[in-house]
Amino acid sequence: MNRKEFIKTSCSLCSIAFIGASVFIESCKKGNGTTPQGPTVNFTLDLGSSSYTALKTVGGQVSLNGVVVAHTSTSYIAVAQACTHQGCAVSFNGSNQFVCPCHSGVFDINGNVLSGPPPSPLKKYTVTQNGNILTVAG
Ligand code: FES
Repeated sequence: MNRKEFIKTSCSLCSIAFIGASVFIESCKKGNGTTPQGPTVNFTLDLGSSSYTALKTVGGQVSLNGVVVAHTSTSYIAVAQACTHQGCAVSFNGSNQFVCPCHSGVFDINGNVLSGPPPSPLKKYTVTQNGNILTVAG
């Protein structure tokens, strides 16, 4: 192998290695980005109970069974509490976002990642209201 062939072969191998490393790093960074993460739940809570007073106010929230239930200006919503990055507890910021205190991950009210390192969405739960009773399931 002469010098020209050596350089040509080396550059080809380096390109393949670089592309492979880039794909690997990107997959580690973002995961698949589509699968929501969170526990399967089915529970009720009574808005008349003193345990859930925070939910009477728009912007209020409670955490229960690994789920954050929040009162928005239009409805009650619920998402998984554990951040999909490293599992820190997210909270509702009162402005239609869930935020993670550990590395500044931000999710919308549907659990979708808006910014930060979380690789996938939070699981969103169905919340139905019947009088003072909220049912959270999903
Ligand atoms: S654990 Fe939530 S952003 Fe890192």
